[in-house]
Amino acid sequence: MRTHFCGLIDESLIGQDVTLCGWVDTIRLQSHTAFVDLRDHHGIAQVVIERENADAFAVAGELGYEYVVKVTGQIRKRLSVNDKLKTGTIELLADKVEILNAARDLPFALHETPNEDLRMTYRYLDLRRPDMQHMMRTRTSLVRALRRYLDDAGFQDIETPILTKATPEGARDYLVPSRVHPGQFYALPQSPQLFKQILMVAGFDRYYQIARCFRDEDLRADRQPEFTQLDLEFAFVEERDVQDFVEDLIRHVFREVRGVELDASFPRMTYAEAMRRFGSDKPDLRNPMELVDIADAVKHIEFKVFAEPANDPAGRVVALRVPGGAALSRKEIDGMAEFAAKYGAKGLAWLKVEDLAKGRDGINSPVAKFLDDAALEQVLALTAAADGDIVFFGAGRWKTVTDFMGAVRLKAGRDRGLVETSWKPLWVTDFPMFEYDDEEQRYVALHHPFTAPKVDDIADLRANAGVAVSRGYDMVLNGNEIGGGSIRIHRPEMQSAVFDLLGIGADEAEAKFGFLLKALRLGAPPHGGLAFGIDRIAALMAGTESIRDVIAFPKTTSAQDLMTDAPSAVSEPQLKELHVRVAAETPKA
Ligand code: AMO
Ligand code: AMP
Repeated sequence: MRTHFCGLIDESLIGQDVTLCGWVDTIRLQSHTAFVDLRDHHGIAQVVIERENADAFAVAGELGYEYVVKVTGQIRKRLSVNDKLKTGTIELLADKVEILNAARDLPFALHETPNEDLRMTYRYLDLRRPDMQHMMRTRTSLVRALRRYLDDAGFQDIETPILTKATPEGARDYLVPSRVHPGQFYALPQSPQLFKQILMVAGFDRYYQIARCFRDEDLRADRQPEFTQLDLEFAFVEERDVQDFVEDLIRHVFREVRGVELDASFPRMTYAEAMRRFGSDKPDLRNPMELVDIADAVKHIEFKVFAEPANDPAGRVVALRVPGGAALSRKEIDGMAEFAAKYGAKGLAWLKVEDLAKGRDGINSPVAKFLDDAALEQVLALTAAADGDIVFFGAGRWKTVTDFMGAVRLKAGRDRGLVETSWKPLWVTDFPMFEYDDEEQRYVALHHPFTAPKVDDIADLRANAGVAVSRGYDMVLNGNEIGGGSIRIHRPEMQSAVFDLLGIGADEAEAKFGFLLKALRLGAPPHGGLAFGIDRIAALMAGTESIRDVIAFPKTTSAQDLMTDAPSAVSEPQLKELHVRVAAETPKA
Protein backbone atom coordinates (compact mmCIF):
# COMPACT_ATOMS: atom_id res chain seq x y z
CA MET A 1 0.00 0.00 0.00
CA ARG A 2 2.87 2.39 0.83
CA THR A 3 6.51 2.62 -0.19
CA HIS A 4 7.87 4.51 2.85
CA PHE A 5 7.00 5.63 6.37
CA CYS A 6 6.13 9.33 6.76
CA GLY A 7 8.63 9.85 9.56
CA LEU A 8 11.49 8.09 7.78
CA ILE A 9 11.70 9.88 4.41
CA ASP A 10 14.98 11.73 3.88
CA GLU A 11 16.92 13.76 1.34
CA SER A 12 18.20 10.65 -0.44
CA LEU A 13 14.66 10.32 -1.84
CA ILE A 14 14.61 13.73 -3.56
CA GLY A 15 13.28 13.31 -7.09
CA GLN A 16 11.75 9.90 -6.36
CA ASP A 17 8.11 8.83 -6.47
CA VAL A 18 6.83 7.56 -3.13
CA THR A 19 3.51 6.58 -1.57
CA LEU A 20 2.86 7.50 2.06
CA CYS A 21 -0.08 6.55 4.26
CA GLY A 22 -1.09 8.07 7.55
CA TRP A 23 -3.31 10.39 9.54
CA VAL A 24 -3.89 14.08 8.84
CA ASP A 25 -2.08 15.83 11.66
CA THR A 26 -2.72 19.40 10.44
CA ILE A 27 -4.08 21.04 7.30
CA ARG A 28 -3.46 24.55 6.00
CA LEU A 29 -5.65 25.38 3.03
CA GLN A 30 -4.51 28.38 1.00
CA SER A 31 -6.01 29.64 -2.23
CA HIS A 32 -3.39 27.97 -4.44
CA THR A 33 -1.86 25.37 -2.21
CA ALA A 34 -2.85 22.97 0.55
CA PHE A 35 -0.29 21.84 3.14
CA VAL A 36 -1.01 18.63 4.99
CA ASP A 37 1.14 17.18 7.75
CA LEU A 38 0.78 13.44 7.41
CA ARG A 39 1.60 11.35 10.46
CA ASP A 40 2.40 7.71 11.04
CA HIS A 41 4.08 6.06 14.03
CA HIS A 42 7.52 7.11 12.83
CA GLY A 43 6.71 10.80 12.54
CA ILE A 44 5.44 13.49 10.22
CA ALA A 45 5.92 14.36 6.54
CA GLN A 46 4.70 17.53 4.84
CA VAL A 47 2.49 16.96 1.81
CA VAL A 48 1.91 19.80 -0.68
CA ILE A 49 -1.16 19.74 -2.92
CA GLU A 50 -1.29 22.38 -5.67
CA ARG A 51 -4.38 23.88 -7.27
CA GLU A 52 -3.23 22.91 -10.76
CA ASN A 53 -3.78 19.30 -9.73
CA ALA A 54 -7.55 19.78 -9.66
CA ASP A 55 -8.51 16.26 -8.51
CA ALA A 56 -6.05 16.19 -5.67
CA PHE A 57 -6.88 19.75 -4.63
CA ALA A 58 -10.58 18.84 -4.49
CA VAL A 59 -9.79 15.93 -2.15
CA ALA A 60 -7.69 18.26 0.02
CA GLY A 61 -10.81 20.37 0.53
CA GLU A 62 -12.63 17.41 2.02
CA LEU A 63 -9.90 16.44 4.51
CA GLY A 64 -10.26 16.86 8.24
CA TYR A 65 -8.02 16.17 11.23
CA GLU A 66 -7.26 12.47 11.69
CA TYR A 67 -8.58 11.46 8.28
CA VAL A 68 -6.72 8.42 6.99
CA VAL A 69 -5.14 9.13 3.63
CA LYS A 70 -2.82 7.71 1.02
CA VAL A 71 -0.71 10.12 -1.01
CA THR A 72 1.46 9.40 -4.03
CA GLY A 73 3.87 11.94 -5.47
CA GLN A 74 7.46 13.11 -5.70
CA ILE A 75 9.83 14.08 -2.89
CA ARG A 76 11.39 17.51 -3.31
CA LYS A 77 13.48 19.96 -1.33
CA ARG A 78 11.52 22.37 0.84
CA LEU A 79 11.71 26.10 0.36
CA SER A 80 11.26 26.96 4.01
CA VAL A 81 13.00 24.42 6.23
CA ASN A 82 11.26 23.32 9.45
CA ASP A 83 13.96 22.62 12.07
CA LYS A 84 11.49 21.02 14.43
CA LEU A 85 10.74 18.13 12.08
CA LYS A 86 13.10 15.27 11.32
CA THR A 87 11.78 15.41 7.74
CA GLY A 88 11.78 19.23 7.77
CA THR A 89 14.05 19.80 4.75
CA ILE A 90 11.87 17.91 2.28
CA GLU A 91 8.22 17.52 1.29
CA LEU A 92 5.99 15.36 -0.85
CA LEU A 93 4.45 17.10 -3.88
CA ALA A 94 1.17 15.20 -4.25
CA ASP A 95 0.17 13.64 -7.49
CA LYS A 96 -2.76 11.64 -6.11
CA VAL A 97 -4.55 11.96 -2.79
CA GLU A 98 -6.95 9.26 -1.65
CA ILE A 99 -9.12 9.26 1.47
CA LEU A 100 -8.95 5.78 3.02
CA ASN A 101 -11.26 6.69 5.88
CA ALA A 102 -12.85 9.70 7.52
CA ALA A 103 -12.69 10.73 11.19
CA ARG A 104 -15.76 12.75 12.13
CA ASP A 105 -16.59 14.56 15.36
CA LEU A 106 -13.26 14.06 17.12
CA PRO A 107 -13.91 14.08 20.89
CA PHE A 108 -10.66 15.99 21.48
CA ALA A 109 -7.81 17.59 19.58
CA LEU A 110 -4.81 15.30 19.51
CA HIS A 111 -2.43 18.22 19.94
CA GLU A 112 -3.77 18.88 23.41
CA THR A 113 -3.64 16.60 26.42
CA PRO A 114 -7.29 15.76 27.02
CA ASN A 115 -8.73 15.01 30.42
CA GLU A 116 -8.14 11.55 31.85
CA ASP A 117 -11.66 10.20 31.30
CA LEU A 118 -11.69 11.19 27.64
CA ARG A 119 -8.25 9.70 27.16
CA MET A 120 -9.40 6.39 28.59
CA THR A 121 -12.73 6.32 26.73
CA TYR A 122 -11.03 7.01 23.39
CA ARG A 123 -7.79 5.28 24.24
CA TYR A 124 -7.02 4.55 20.56
CA LEU A 125 -6.99 8.30 19.84
CA ASP A 126 -4.94 8.96 22.94
CA LEU A 127 -2.43 6.28 21.94
CA ARG A 128 -2.20 7.79 18.45
CA ARG A 129 -0.55 10.88 19.96
CA PRO A 130 3.23 10.91 19.33
CA ASP A 131 4.05 11.14 23.07
CA MET A 132 2.10 8.00 23.77
CA GLN A 133 3.56 6.21 20.76
CA HIS A 134 7.00 7.04 22.09
CA MET A 135 6.28 5.85 25.62
CA MET A 136 4.78 2.58 24.42
CA ARG A 137 7.83 2.01 22.24
CA THR A 138 10.07 2.48 25.26
CA ARG A 139 8.17 -0.31 26.96
CA THR A 140 8.55 -2.59 23.93
CA SER A 141 12.30 -1.90 23.85
CA LEU A 142 12.57 -2.66 27.57
CA VAL A 143 10.79 -5.99 27.29
CA ARG A 144 12.84 -6.94 24.23
CA ALA A 145 16.11 -6.13 26.01
CA LEU A 146 15.09 -8.08 29.13
CA ARG A 147 14.11 -11.14 27.12
CA ARG A 148 17.28 -11.14 25.03
CA TYR A 149 19.50 -10.91 28.09
CA LEU A 150 17.73 -13.72 29.92
CA ASP A 151 17.47 -15.97 26.88
CA ASP A 152 21.21 -15.54 26.31
CA ALA A 153 21.88 -16.31 29.98
CA GLY A 154 20.13 -19.66 29.63
CA PHE A 155 16.92 -18.90 31.50
CA GLN A 156 13.86 -20.89 30.58
CA ASP A 157 10.68 -18.94 29.88
CA ILE A 158 7.83 -20.96 31.39
CA GLU A 159 4.17 -19.96 31.60
CA THR A 160 2.21 -20.55 34.79
CA PRO A 161 -1.58 -20.67 35.21
CA ILE A 162 -3.89 -17.67 35.36
CA LEU A 163 -6.84 -19.71 36.63
CA THR A 164 -5.36 -20.94 39.86
CA LYS A 165 -5.45 -20.97 43.61
CA ALA A 166 -4.86 -17.88 45.76
CA THR A 167 -1.21 -16.73 45.84
CA PRO A 168 -1.05 -14.19 48.66
CA GLU A 169 1.04 -11.05 48.16
CA GLY A 170 -0.91 -8.92 50.60
CA ALA A 171 -3.78 -7.81 48.33
CA ARG A 172 -7.32 -9.11 47.77
CA ASP A 173 -7.84 -11.79 45.15
CA TYR A 174 -9.80 -11.56 41.93
CA LEU A 175 -12.00 -14.64 41.83
CA VAL A 176 -13.50 -16.54 38.90
CA PRO A 177 -16.52 -18.80 39.57
CA SER A 178 -16.36 -22.35 38.30
CA ARG A 179 -19.29 -23.57 36.17
CA VAL A 180 -18.52 -27.25 36.60
CA HIS A 181 -17.82 -27.06 40.33
CA PRO A 182 -20.75 -25.19 41.87
CA GLY A 183 -19.73 -22.80 44.62
CA GLN A 184 -16.01 -23.11 43.85
CA PHE A 185 -13.71 -20.41 42.56
CA TYR A 186 -10.40 -19.98 40.86
CA ALA A 187 -8.25 -17.09 42.00
CA LEU A 188 -6.22 -15.04 39.55
CA PRO A 189 -2.56 -15.04 40.63
CA GLN A 190 -1.25 -12.04 42.60
CA SER A 191 2.09 -13.28 41.27
CA PRO A 192 3.48 -16.60 39.99
CA GLN A 193 5.29 -16.99 43.34
CA LEU A 194 4.30 -20.55 44.26
CA PHE A 195 4.57 -21.91 40.74
CA LYS A 196 8.06 -20.54 40.27
CA GLN A 197 9.16 -22.08 43.55
CA ILE A 198 7.68 -25.40 42.44
CA LEU A 199 9.50 -25.06 39.11
CA MET A 200 12.74 -25.02 41.15
CA VAL A 201 11.61 -28.19 42.93
CA ALA A 202 10.94 -29.52 39.41
CA GLY A 203 14.59 -29.03 38.51
CA PHE A 204 14.44 -26.09 36.08
CA ASP A 205 17.16 -24.17 37.89
CA ARG A 206 16.76 -20.77 36.13
CA TYR A 207 13.29 -19.52 35.22
CA TYR A 208 11.79 -16.28 33.97
CA GLN A 209 8.40 -15.15 32.81
CA ILE A 210 6.89 -11.86 31.72
CA ALA A 211 3.88 -12.48 33.92
CA ARG A 212 0.56 -10.74 34.33
CA CYS A 213 -0.39 -10.32 37.99
CA PHE A 214 -3.76 -9.41 39.46
CA ARG A 215 -4.27 -7.59 42.74
CA ASP A 216 -7.48 -6.08 44.01
CA GLU A 217 -6.02 -3.18 45.99
CA ASP A 218 -6.35 0.59 46.21
CA LEU A 219 -4.99 2.10 43.02
CA ARG A 220 -2.45 4.89 42.68
CA ALA A 221 -0.22 6.31 39.97
CA ASP A 222 2.16 3.37 40.38
CA ARG A 223 -0.42 0.64 40.95
CA GLN A 224 -2.80 -1.11 38.59
CA PRO A 225 -5.13 -4.02 39.35
CA GLU A 226 -3.43 -6.00 36.61
CA PHE A 227 0.19 -5.33 35.91
CA THR A 228 3.24 -7.05 34.51
CA GLN A 229 6.22 -8.50 36.31
CA LEU A 230 9.48 -9.82 35.06
CA ASP A 231 9.44 -12.83 37.35
CA LEU A 232 12.70 -14.68 38.05
CA GLU A 233 13.73 -17.67 40.13
CA PHE A 234 17.07 -19.39 40.70
CA ALA A 235 17.94 -22.71 42.37
CA PHE A 236 20.98 -23.19 44.65
CA VAL A 237 21.55 -19.51 45.35
CA GLU A 238 22.08 -17.07 48.17
CA GLU A 239 21.13 -13.36 48.29
CA ARG A 240 24.20 -12.04 46.50
CA ASP A 241 23.90 -14.53 43.61
CA VAL A 242 20.42 -13.21 42.78
CA GLN A 243 21.21 -9.56 43.51
CA ASP A 244 24.42 -9.45 41.49
CA PHE A 245 22.75 -11.08 38.50
CA VAL A 246 19.70 -8.81 38.42
CA GLU A 247 21.80 -5.71 39.06
CA ASP A 248 23.76 -6.53 35.90
CA LEU A 249 20.47 -7.10 34.10
CA ILE A 250 19.10 -3.70 35.11
CA ARG A 251 22.34 -1.93 34.20
CA HIS A 252 22.22 -3.66 30.83
CA VAL A 253 18.65 -2.64 29.98
CA PHE A 254 19.16 0.99 31.03
CA ARG A 255 22.23 1.17 28.82
CA GLU A 256 20.45 -0.55 25.94
CA VAL A 257 17.11 1.28 26.08
CA ARG A 258 18.07 4.69 27.46
CA GLY A 259 21.82 4.96 27.01
CA VAL A 260 22.02 5.50 30.77
CA GLU A 261 24.99 4.17 32.73
CA LEU A 262 23.81 3.24 36.23
CA ASP A 263 26.21 2.90 39.21
CA ALA A 264 28.75 0.10 38.78
CA SER A 265 27.63 -1.22 42.15
CA PHE A 266 24.30 -0.26 43.71
CA PRO A 267 24.52 1.05 47.28
CA ARG A 268 22.93 -1.14 49.94
CA MET A 269 20.97 -0.05 52.95
CA THR A 270 19.09 -1.92 55.64
CA TYR A 271 15.39 -1.30 56.10
CA ALA A 272 16.13 0.17 59.54
CA GLU A 273 18.59 2.69 58.13
CA ALA A 274 16.26 3.66 55.29
CA MET A 275 13.40 4.33 57.70
CA ARG A 276 15.64 6.22 60.09
CA ARG A 277 17.35 8.49 57.55
CA PHE A 278 14.64 8.85 54.91
CA GLY A 279 11.35 7.84 56.51
CA SER A 280 10.73 5.36 53.72
CA ASP A 281 11.59 1.81 52.71
CA LYS A 282 12.03 3.11 49.15
CA PRO A 283 14.16 6.20 49.65
CA ASP A 284 14.62 8.65 46.81
CA LEU A 285 18.35 9.32 47.05
CA ARG A 286 18.14 12.15 44.50
CA ASN A 287 16.70 14.20 47.36
CA PRO A 288 19.61 15.40 49.56
CA MET A 289 17.64 15.92 52.80
CA GLU A 290 17.72 13.51 55.73
CA LEU A 291 15.70 13.04 58.89
CA VAL A 292 17.65 13.64 62.10
CA ASP A 293 16.64 12.09 65.41
CA ILE A 294 16.63 14.72 68.15
CA ALA A 295 15.00 12.79 71.02
CA ASP A 296 18.12 13.07 73.21
CA ALA A 297 18.14 16.83 72.82
CA VAL A 298 14.54 17.33 73.95
CA LYS A 299 14.01 14.60 76.54
CA HIS A 300 14.33 17.03 79.41
CA ILE A 301 12.16 19.95 78.19
CA GLU A 302 8.70 20.91 79.45
CA PHE A 303 7.06 20.83 76.01
CA LYS A 304 5.12 17.55 76.17
CA VAL A 305 4.57 17.29 72.41
CA PHE A 306 8.33 16.62 72.09
CA ALA A 307 9.32 15.32 75.52
CA GLU A 308 6.75 12.53 75.77
CA PRO A 309 7.67 10.67 72.58
CA ALA A 310 11.35 11.46 73.26
CA ASN A 311 11.10 9.45 76.47
CA ASP A 312 8.96 6.66 75.01
CA PRO A 313 10.78 3.73 73.37
CA ALA A 314 7.88 3.47 70.89
CA GLY A 315 8.07 7.20 70.13
CA ARG A 316 10.16 9.28 67.78
CA VAL A 317 11.16 12.96 67.53
CA VAL A 318 12.67 13.99 64.25
CA ALA A 319 13.93 17.16 62.60
CA LEU A 320 14.21 17.86 58.89
CA ARG A 321 16.29 20.77 57.65
CA VAL A 322 15.07 22.23 54.36
CA PRO A 323 17.83 24.34 52.80
CA GLY A 324 16.53 27.77 51.79
CA GLY A 325 13.18 26.98 53.39
CA ALA A 326 13.05 30.15 55.50
CA ALA A 327 11.60 31.73 52.36
CA LEU A 328 8.39 29.74 52.87
CA SER A 329 5.37 31.89 53.62
CA ARG A 330 3.06 31.21 56.54
CA LYS A 331 0.52 29.88 54.06
CA GLU A 332 3.06 27.50 52.54
CA ILE A 333 4.04 26.24 55.98
CA ASP A 334 0.38 25.69 56.86
CA GLY A 335 -0.02 23.85 53.56
CA MET A 336 2.84 21.57 54.52
CA ALA A 337 1.22 20.89 57.91
CA GLU A 338 -2.06 20.00 56.19
CA PHE A 339 -0.14 17.67 53.90
CA ALA A 340 1.57 16.01 56.89
CA ALA A 341 -1.82 15.64 58.59
CA LYS A 342 -2.92 13.34 55.76
CA TYR A 343 -0.19 10.98 56.95
CA GLY A 344 -1.36 11.15 60.54
CA ALA A 345 0.61 14.17 61.85
CA LYS A 346 -1.06 15.99 64.74
CA GLY A 347 1.03 19.07 63.96
CA LEU A 348 4.20 20.14 62.21
CA ALA A 349 6.33 22.40 64.36
CA TRP A 350 8.92 24.54 62.54
CA LEU A 351 11.84 26.84 63.08
CA LYS A 352 13.25 29.39 60.64
CA VAL A 353 16.92 30.28 60.93
CA GLU A 354 17.11 33.96 60.00
CA ASP A 355 20.42 34.93 61.53
CA LEU A 356 22.42 32.35 63.48
CA ALA A 357 24.88 34.99 64.69
CA LYS A 358 22.09 36.63 66.68
CA GLY A 359 21.44 33.47 68.67
CA ARG A 360 17.86 33.04 69.87
CA ASP A 361 16.91 36.45 68.43
CA GLY A 362 17.82 35.23 64.95
CA ILE A 363 15.35 32.33 65.19
CA ASN A 364 11.74 32.64 64.10
CA SER A 365 9.62 29.82 65.45
CA PRO A 366 6.43 29.26 67.43
CA VAL A 367 8.15 26.47 69.38
CA ALA A 368 11.54 28.08 70.09
CA LYS A 369 10.16 29.29 73.43
CA PHE A 370 9.68 25.66 74.49
CA LEU A 371 13.31 24.79 73.75
CA ASP A 372 15.80 25.84 76.43
CA ASP A 373 19.24 27.02 75.33
CA ALA A 374 20.78 23.56 75.49
CA ALA A 375 17.96 22.01 73.45
CA LEU A 376 17.98 24.78 70.86
CA GLU A 377 21.73 24.62 70.49
CA GLN A 378 21.72 20.85 70.07
CA VAL A 379 18.90 20.89 67.54
CA LEU A 380 20.71 23.50 65.47
CA ALA A 381 23.94 21.53 65.68
CA LEU A 382 22.36 18.15 64.87
CA THR A 383 20.54 19.52 61.83
CA ALA A 384 23.48 21.72 60.76
CA ALA A 385 20.91 24.45 60.11
CA ALA A 386 22.24 27.61 58.47
CA ASP A 387 20.85 31.07 57.75
CA GLY A 388 17.91 30.86 55.36
CA ASP A 389 16.89 27.31 56.32
CA ILE A 390 13.71 26.04 57.89
CA VAL A 391 13.64 23.02 60.20
CA PHE A 392 10.43 20.98 60.45
CA PHE A 393 9.76 18.79 63.48
CA GLY A 394 7.74 15.60 63.81
CA ALA A 395 6.92 14.01 67.15
CA GLY A 396 4.72 11.09 68.17
CA ARG A 397 4.51 7.35 67.56
CA TRP A 398 7.54 5.97 65.75
CA LYS A 399 5.66 4.68 62.71
CA THR A 400 3.46 7.76 62.31
CA VAL A 401 6.35 10.23 62.61
CA THR A 402 8.51 8.20 60.24
CA ASP A 403 5.72 8.12 57.64
CA PHE A 404 4.73 11.77 57.76
CA MET A 405 8.25 13.13 57.96
CA GLY A 406 9.23 10.84 55.06
CA ALA A 407 6.37 12.36 53.07
CA VAL A 408 7.30 15.93 54.11
CA ARG A 409 10.88 15.25 52.98
CA LEU A 410 9.69 14.22 49.53
CA LYS A 411 7.28 17.13 49.15
CA ALA A 412 9.76 19.74 50.39
CA GLY A 413 12.37 18.34 48.00
CA ARG A 414 10.02 18.61 45.04
CA ASP A 415 8.55 22.01 46.02
CA ARG A 416 11.98 23.58 46.60
CA GLY A 417 13.53 22.04 43.45
CA LEU A 418 16.12 20.16 45.50
CA VAL A 419 15.73 16.82 43.70
CA GLU A 420 18.71 16.08 41.46
CA THR A 421 18.17 14.97 37.88
CA SER A 422 19.95 11.63 37.96
CA TRP A 423 19.45 7.91 38.45
CA LYS A 424 19.80 6.66 42.01
CA PRO A 425 19.32 2.93 42.42
CA LEU A 426 19.85 1.06 45.67
CA TRP A 427 19.14 -2.19 47.45
CA VAL A 428 17.09 -2.19 50.61
CA THR A 429 17.75 -5.31 52.70
CA ASP A 430 17.16 -6.81 56.14
CA PHE A 431 13.42 -6.24 56.25
CA PRO A 432 11.57 -7.29 59.36
CA MET A 433 10.14 -10.76 58.87
CA PHE A 434 6.78 -9.82 60.39
CA GLU A 435 4.82 -6.68 61.05
CA TYR A 436 2.26 -6.57 63.84
CA ASP A 437 -1.18 -5.68 62.50
CA ASP A 438 -2.95 -3.75 65.27
CA GLU A 439 -6.38 -4.17 63.70
CA GLU A 440 -6.13 -7.90 63.13
CA GLN A 441 -4.06 -8.36 66.30
CA ARG A 442 -1.65 -10.73 64.62
CA TYR A 443 1.59 -10.80 62.66
CA VAL A 444 1.49 -10.32 58.90
CA ALA A 445 4.34 -11.04 56.51
CA LEU A 446 6.22 -7.94 55.36
CA HIS A 447 7.13 -9.62 52.07
CA HIS A 448 5.14 -12.81 51.39
CA PRO A 449 4.84 -15.83 53.72
CA PHE A 450 7.38 -17.85 51.71
CA THR A 451 10.30 -15.53 52.49
CA ALA A 452 13.05 -17.17 54.54
CA PRO A 453 14.06 -15.73 57.90
CA LYS A 454 17.74 -15.03 58.54
CA VAL A 455 17.76 -17.45 61.44
CA ASP A 456 17.71 -21.14 60.54
CA ASP A 457 16.51 -22.26 63.92
CA ILE A 458 12.75 -22.57 64.35
CA ALA A 459 12.82 -22.19 68.15
CA ASP A 460 14.91 -19.04 67.78
CA LEU A 461 12.45 -17.61 65.24
CA ARG A 462 9.48 -18.34 67.50
CA ALA A 463 11.18 -16.77 70.50
CA ASN A 464 12.17 -13.59 68.65
CA ALA A 465 9.46 -13.25 65.99
CA GLY A 466 8.88 -9.55 66.71
CA VAL A 467 12.45 -8.61 65.81
CA ALA A 468 13.19 -11.34 63.27
CA VAL A 469 14.83 -10.18 60.04
CA SER A 470 14.03 -11.77 56.69
CA ARG A 471 16.15 -12.66 53.68
CA GLY A 472 14.05 -10.33 51.53
CA TYR A 473 15.40 -7.46 49.42
CA ASP A 474 13.95 -4.69 47.27
CA MET A 475 15.53 -2.79 44.41
CA VAL A 476 14.65 0.89 44.57
CA LEU A 477 15.18 3.49 41.85
CA ASN A 478 14.53 7.20 42.37
CA GLY A 479 12.05 6.54 45.16
CA ASN A 480 10.21 3.73 43.38
CA GLU A 481 10.20 0.11 44.44
CA ILE A 482 10.98 -1.43 41.07
CA GLY A 483 11.63 -4.98 42.24
CA GLY A 484 11.31 -7.22 45.25
CA GLY A 485 12.48 -10.70 46.08
CA SER A 486 13.96 -13.02 48.63
CA ILE A 487 15.59 -16.28 49.45
CA ARG A 488 12.70 -18.67 50.07
CA ILE A 489 11.95 -21.16 52.75
CA HIS A 490 12.84 -24.57 51.31
CA ARG A 491 12.40 -26.72 54.43
CA PRO A 492 8.79 -27.80 55.13
CA GLU A 493 9.20 -27.53 58.92
CA MET A 494 10.25 -23.88 58.68
CA GLN A 495 7.42 -23.11 56.26
CA SER A 496 4.89 -24.67 58.67
CA ALA A 497 6.38 -22.68 61.57
CA VAL A 498 6.08 -19.41 59.62
CA PHE A 499 2.48 -20.18 58.69
CA ASP A 500 1.84 -20.83 62.37
CA LEU A 501 3.41 -17.51 63.42
CA LEU A 502 1.21 -15.78 60.84
CA GLY A 503 -1.84 -17.29 62.49
CA ILE A 504 -2.41 -19.83 59.72
CA GLY A 505 -3.17 -23.05 61.57
CA ALA A 506 -2.10 -26.51 60.42
CA ASP A 507 -5.48 -27.33 58.84
CA GLU A 508 -5.74 -24.03 57.02
CA ALA A 509 -2.12 -24.31 55.87
CA GLU A 510 -2.81 -27.77 54.50
CA ALA A 511 -6.00 -26.62 52.72
CA LYS A 512 -4.42 -23.52 51.19
CA PHE A 513 -0.81 -24.48 50.69
CA GLY A 514 -0.76 -28.27 51.06
CA PHE A 515 0.61 -28.63 47.53
CA LEU A 516 3.58 -26.41 48.40
CA LEU A 517 4.31 -28.22 51.68
CA LYS A 518 4.15 -31.55 49.83
CA ALA A 519 6.58 -30.29 47.19
CA LEU A 520 8.97 -29.00 49.89
CA ARG A 521 8.97 -32.51 51.39
CA LEU A 522 10.04 -34.07 48.09
CA GLY A 523 13.50 -32.69 47.49
CA ALA A 524 13.19 -28.90 47.24
CA PRO A 525 16.56 -27.23 46.57
CA PRO A 526 17.49 -23.98 48.30
CA HIS A 527 16.17 -21.28 45.99
CA GLY A 528 15.41 -17.59 45.65
CA GLY A 529 14.52 -14.93 43.15
CA LEU A 530 12.91 -11.61 42.51
CA ALA A 531 10.23 -9.89 40.44
CA PHE A 532 10.54 -6.53 38.73
CA GLY A 533 7.58 -4.28 38.05
CA ILE A 534 7.89 -3.84 34.29
CA ASP A 535 5.29 -1.07 34.19
CA ARG A 536 7.19 0.92 36.81
CA ILE A 537 10.55 0.52 35.07
CA ALA A 538 9.01 1.44 31.71
CA ALA A 539 7.40 4.54 33.25
CA LEU A 540 10.74 5.63 34.74
CA MET A 541 12.49 5.08 31.42
CA ALA A 542 9.77 6.96 29.54
CA GLY A 543 9.95 9.83 32.03
CA THR A 544 6.32 9.69 33.12
CA GLU A 545 4.81 9.77 36.59
CA SER A 546 2.04 7.28 35.90
CA ILE A 547 2.35 3.64 34.84
CA ARG A 548 -0.92 4.17 32.95
CA ASP A 549 1.14 5.89 30.24
CA VAL A 550 3.06 2.71 29.50
CA ILE A 551 0.09 0.32 29.60
CA ALA A 552 -1.92 0.26 26.37
CA PHE A 553 -5.28 -0.31 28.04
CA PRO A 554 -5.03 0.57 31.73
CA LYS A 555 -7.79 0.87 34.31
CA THR A 556 -8.88 4.09 35.98
CA THR A 557 -8.31 4.69 39.68
CA SER A 558 -11.71 3.13 40.28
CA ALA A 559 -10.57 -0.02 38.43
CA GLN A 560 -12.71 0.57 35.35
CA ASP A 561 -11.92 0.30 31.68
CA LEU A 562 -13.84 3.24 30.24
CA MET A 563 -13.29 2.14 26.65
CA THR A 564 -14.92 -1.29 26.94
CA ASP A 565 -17.00 -0.33 29.97
CA ALA A 566 -15.64 -3.16 32.12
CA PRO A 567 -16.61 -4.33 34.65
CA SER A 568 -20.20 -4.71 33.56
CA ALA A 569 -23.28 -6.63 34.58
CA VAL A 570 -23.89 -10.06 33.06
CA SER A 571 -27.12 -11.77 32.10
CA GLU A 572 -29.20 -13.80 34.54
CA PRO A 573 -28.75 -17.09 32.61
CA GLN A 574 -24.97 -16.64 32.66
CA LEU A 575 -25.01 -16.07 36.41
CA LYS A 576 -27.21 -19.09 36.91
CA GLU A 577 -24.85 -21.25 34.91
CA LEU A 578 -22.06 -20.11 37.22
CA HIS A 579 -24.15 -20.75 40.32
CA VAL A 580 -23.82 -17.11 41.31
CA ARG A 581 -26.52 -14.90 42.77
CA VAL A 582 -25.93 -11.16 43.08
CA ALA A 583 -26.90 -9.85 46.49
CA ALA A 584 -26.98 -6.11 45.79
CA GLU A 585 -29.06 -4.40 43.12
CA THR A 586 -27.16 -4.47 39.83
CA PRO A 587 -26.92 -0.98 38.33
CA LYS A 588 -27.46 -1.95 34.68
CA ALA A 589 -28.19 -5.07 32.67
P1 AMO B 1 6.15 -7.76 44.91
O1 AMO B 1 4.78 -7.85 45.47
O2 AMO B 1 7.15 -6.90 45.59
O3 AMO B 1 6.83 -9.19 44.86
O4 AMO B 1 6.04 -7.33 43.40
C1 AMO B 1 7.20 -7.18 42.60
C2 AMO B 1 7.17 -5.85 41.88
O5 AMO B 1 5.99 -5.67 41.12
C3 AMO B 1 5.63 -4.31 41.08
N1 AMO B 1 4.23 -4.17 41.53
C4 AMO B 1 3.27 -3.49 40.88
N2 AMO B 1 3.30 -2.77 39.76
C5 AMO B 1 2.15 -2.20 39.34
N3 AMO B 1 0.97 -2.31 39.97
C6 AMO B 1 0.88 -3.03 41.12
N4 AMO B 1 -0.31 -3.16 41.74
C7 AMO B 1 2.07 -3.65 41.64
N5 AMO B 1 2.35 -4.41 42.72
C8 AMO B 1 3.65 -4.72 42.63
C9 AMO B 1 6.59 -3.57 41.96
C10 AMO B 1 7.16 -4.66 42.83
O6 AMO B 1 8.47 -4.37 43.25
N6 AMO B 1 6.33 -12.75 44.23
C11 AMO B 1 7.06 -11.59 44.68
C12 AMO B 1 8.41 -11.47 44.02
C13 AMO B 1 9.44 -12.43 44.56
O7 AMO B 1 9.50 -12.59 45.79
O8 AMO B 1 10.20 -12.98 43.75
C14 AMO B 1 6.26 -10.34 44.36
O9 AMO B 1 5.28 -10.34 43.64
O10 AMO B 1 7.59 -2.98 41.17
P1 AMP C 1 0.26 22.80 70.35
O1 AMP C 1 0.89 22.90 71.67
O2 AMP C 1 -0.49 21.52 70.09
O3 AMP C 1 -0.48 24.03 69.91
O4 AMP C 1 1.49 22.73 69.34
C1 AMP C 1 2.52 23.67 69.30
C2 AMP C 1 3.31 23.51 68.04
O5 AMP C 1 3.76 22.17 67.91
C3 AMP C 1 2.50 23.80 66.78
O6 AMP C 1 3.37 24.48 65.89
C4 AMP C 1 2.15 22.44 66.25
O7 AMP C 1 2.06 22.45 64.83
C5 AMP C 1 3.33 21.61 66.70
N1 AMP C 1 2.97 20.21 66.93
C6 AMP C 1 1.90 19.70 67.58
N2 AMP C 1 1.91 18.35 67.56
C7 AMP C 1 3.02 18.01 66.88
C8 AMP C 1 3.61 16.76 66.51
N3 AMP C 1 3.07 15.58 66.84
N4 AMP C 1 4.75 16.77 65.78
C9 AMP C 1 5.32 17.95 65.42
N5 AMP C 1 4.83 19.14 65.75
C10 AMP C 1 3.68 19.18 66.47
